[in-house]
Amino acid sequence: MTPCYKITGGKPIQGTVDCLGAKNFATKAMVAALLTDEVSTLTNFPDIGDVHITADMIRSIGAKLEFNAKEKVLRIDPSTINTHIVSMPQSGSNRIPILMLGGLLNKFKKAEVPLLGGCNIGKRNIDFHFTALEQFGAFIEETPDSFMAYCHEPLKGCEITLPYPSVGATETSLFLAVLAKGITVIKNAAIEPEIMELITMLRSMGALIFNAPDRKITIHGVQKLNGTRMEILGDRIDAASWAALACASDGDITVKGISPNILNNFLTHYLMIGGGLELIDNNTIRFFRKSPLKSTIIETDVYPGFSTDWQQPFAILLTQADGISVIHDTVYEKRFGYLNALNRLGADTQLTTYCLGGSSCRFKDKSHEHSAIIKGETPLTSNGYTIDVPDLRAGLAYVIAAAIAKGTTTITSIHNIERGYGNIVNRTLNTNLDIQRIG
Ligand code: EPU
Repeated sequence: MTPCYKITGGKPIQGTVDCLGAKNFATKAMVAALLTDEVSTLTNFPDIGDVHITADMIRSIGAKLEFNAKEKVLRIDPSTINTHIVSMPQSGSNRIPILMLGGLLNKFKKAEVPLLGGCNIGKRNIDFHFTALEQFGAFIEETPDSFMAYCHEPLKGCEITLPYPSVGATETSLFLAVLAKGITVIKNAAIEPEIMELITMLRSMGALIFNAPDRKITIHGVQKLNGTRMEILGDRIDAASWAALACASDGDITVKGISPNILNNFLTHYLMIGGGLELIDNNTIRFFRKSPLKSTIIETDVYPGFSTDWQQPFAILLTQADGISVIHDTVYEKRFGYLNALNRLGADTQLTTYCLGGSSCRFKDKSHEHSAIIKGETPLTSNGYTIDVPDLRAGLAYVIAAAIAKGTTTITSIHNIERGYGNIVNRTLNTNLDIQRIG
């Protein structure tokens, strides 16, 4: 039997949850650690599926990894890297292979990585990565199951203007630039907190990186980088999901290991609809419901906007808010597929191709259903329903929905959840969530 979660819901969820180290920095920090020949140590390292996929790819090129899950410490020794070919892990790929091209090109002048996997949430183009690679002097070919890159000369710094502040393309450009000859300027770069942490880590390895206003990053290439020790910052998506669970269930959850700074506009929207929060200390926040929940309008955007990865738990919260709410996802064209299953539990949601919510986005006049209307308040009920997780962020949203729904819900395809959040049963042991992992 493939593993599933069984959740019996309908009561306020109370307790404490330890926030994970951020998935979307941890995997990039692993790639950064390959840019040197020296050992690096990553602390507060999360034990989640996506880092295991990345670890398998890193081992396939000969690097040594030691993970102490209890201490949350990963040690990476890249001095034994012996091939430019990254093999596909048995469990499949994620978004990381393309980020490994920079280090391998620099070391071997050639690189081969598996095609990208990760969540199916729309097209997820990688054309900006290719353009950047070419600007540095690399050539790229796509085969049926890999990307191959090579360069005749050492990579050369260049000026890159990203058409959209893509997180991944900014990372690709950074990984290429830090060891390229000369100066690189990245314009319209992503400035998500995880990118800023990556820049800090690269600096601690000896990289010369300047941040300037207006999303401009300037890098002076160096010949060699050193190993480092870096703490993985708290996961702002994980923390926001537990906040949504506390408020949606009218419960009270304290989340440890998250800095309120990086929750940014999430906190403002949370307060506006009736959520309550108490800062216990710089790294601990208590979340609860302060007043009856009210509807709102949210547009997702690149940082410092409301993250597209927050919209799924927030949508569950909005099913419990009085009135008509709107979420306009301006980052991905197709990230609302998960709402259908929610309607089966009693939610009242609808999708439209229009840009609802204020501004027109890149998807205006296209056929993508990228705005959601959520009518509340709707009690959720499960008559023994099974819901299948379509993608990672939708997965934890389903856990929240099942926790507030009266009755028992079975959630399948939980590998999608555990890829980003680990084992939810173990993570909620200090709460009263009634959850079992079967299979
Ligand atoms: N885009 C292009 N061309 C490109 C690159 C991006 O058109 O070459 C478009 C994408 O199609 C998308 C938008 O730009 O519509 C944003 O893509 P971006 O490159 O910023 O996203 P990413 O690097 O693939 C990371 C996170 C996502 C998160 C986004 C946005 C990782 C591994 N993934 O993806 O996280 O939603 O940034 O913040 O860091 C998740 O964790 O569940 C997740 C999907």
